[in-house]
Amino acid sequence: MSEKNVILIGFMGVGKGTVARAIVPASDYFAIDTDDLIESIENKKVKKIFEDSGEPYFRVLEKKCALWCEKSLKNTIISTGGGFYKQENIKDIGTIVYLQSGFDRIIEALKAAPNSKKKFKKRPLLNDLKEAKELYLQRVKEYENVADITVNVEDWDIDRIVKEILERVK
Ligand code: S3P
Repeated sequence: MSEKNVILIGFMGVGKGTVARAIVPASDYFAIDTDDLIESIENKKVKKIFEDSGEPYFRVLEKKCALWCEKSLKNTIISTGGGFYKQENIKDIGTIVYLQSGFDRIIEALKAAPNSKKKFKKRPLLNDLKEAKELYLQRVKEYENVADITVNVEDWDIDRIVKEILERVK
């Protein structure tokens, strides 16, 4: 059994949480999500944190969360918010897996989801798709650079994605 954590990074809506949850029954990893942890300590949704206190405060909470993950977790799949990759200590948390997909493919899949409205509404940085695309283009190289492993998820074949991640993080 590996003691090492696996951190899933990638753009908003690419499916980090879904992939993390799919890995659990196929392995002995536990799964946790950084946005869920932040919502739990603040007792507020991410959207409300952005509205009440602004993005910089949210990033402070992400930092706190990153430090806690490094200190407290092992053998865990950590799905992260799309901006978490910027945390200074991310390399010390575990193996970083970048879930890669084109911007249009991500938006198309979000639009086709049964709970599509909710998926857009909960993400303040997806309000304006033009700005979101700029953010994507700005981040795409940075995701690649920080990643130990890049997995393309455009086909959204979840069994293949889980298998590939588990094989490559060994
Ligand atoms: C953000 C992504 C969101 C959430 C917050 C900011 C980002 O998480 O952390 O709205 O900066 O990309 P998801 O990637 O799960 O949407």
